Amino acid sequence: MPARGWSYWSRNKLEILQGYLPAFNRASKSAEERIYIDLMAGEPENYDRDTGETFDGSARLALASDPGFTRFVFGEAPQKASRLQADLEHRYPGAPFRVYPGDCNITIDQMLADLREIRWAPTFVFLDQQAAELRWETMAKLAGFKSGKTKAEQWILWSPAMIVKGVHGTKAEEFATRVDRLYGSRRWRQILAARVDRDITARQFRAEMVNLLRWQFEVDLGYRHTIRIPMTMRNGSDLYDMIFATDHPAGLKIMSHLYGKAAEREPRMKQEAIDAQTGQEPLFRGYDGTVPQWKSEPCWDPSERPWWN
Ligand SMILES: C[S@@+](CC[C@H](N)C(=O)[O-])C[C@H]1O[C@@H](n2cnc3c(N)ncnc32)[C@H](O)[C@@H]1O
Repeated sequence: MPARGWSYWSRNKLEILQGYLPAFNRASKSAEERIYIDLMAGEPENYDRDTGETFDGSARLALASDPGFTRFVFGEAPQKASRLQADLEHRYPGAPFRVYPGDCNITIDQMLADLREIRWAPTFVFLDQQAAELRWETMAKLAGFKSGKTKAEQWILWSPAMIVKGVHGTKAEEFATRVDRLYGSRRWRQILAARVDRDITARQFRAEMVNLLRWQFEVDLGYRHTIRIPMTMRNGSDLYDMIFATDHPAGLKIMSHLYGKAAEREPRMKQEAIDAQTGQEPLFRGYDGTVPQWKSEPCWDPSERPWWN
């Protein structure tokens, strides 16, 4: 029995992943080894809290990719890690995967040490956090793990909305310290201050928080391309972003195409969720067939903002 219910936008995110992994492997098929790293691999199976349908978690999707990876590394908190280990051993006996129980910001060192001999291999990393569990140094270690031309691709969930919630919660300062670790500095606090002072709107806050991460990936870690993929909620408001960092223009093109497909699916998935909640047959009401227009903008130097000190 899967442990928790996800909403349709999580499912849509995993559909992008499911589309991307075989494309990544096709694009790097001449390499003898291809690595998949999933730092927060979750449960083997999830269920849709609106429709009740079950769907595979990211670890299963990665192992099922065809063409496939040659090495798999999964991080997860200890209890879930043992469930994942048991499930994957049962489904994919003998597959070249290893589950590392514990805080992925710590286990990352062992993961990368174990992969050292094949650090030339094309590598895709999924960083599926909930709010601010990751640390900047972990993303930097992943960027530094390479001996080939291109760095590991990183696909990261980034949620300024969850950050706002955390910094206004009961353990505000503790949470803010976590966000310092997420960005690797206190720079993000300037964006928060601008929002508190009403120099920027909520939408701008979100854009600035995402931009700061992209800026760090491009300027501090040297990634050639970063894009922002917004995931929206049923009421039309934005929930979180997926940030994709790559050195490879092919990766960028494929991910952009898959996001277009996800945007096309989204109104139908949203309607199915509403219909499931109201007990109606899916009618696809409100879906007029228009695909939301999306184009990733280049990121900007955050310090050029008038409110940045
Ligand atoms: C959004 S879920 C992952 C879902 C999964 N990727 C999927 O698609 O099915 C986030 C997971 O991160 C795990 N987690 C949170 N903090 C972590 C940490 N510091 N190290 C490892 N795992 C962590 C949680 O236990 C949770 O299962």
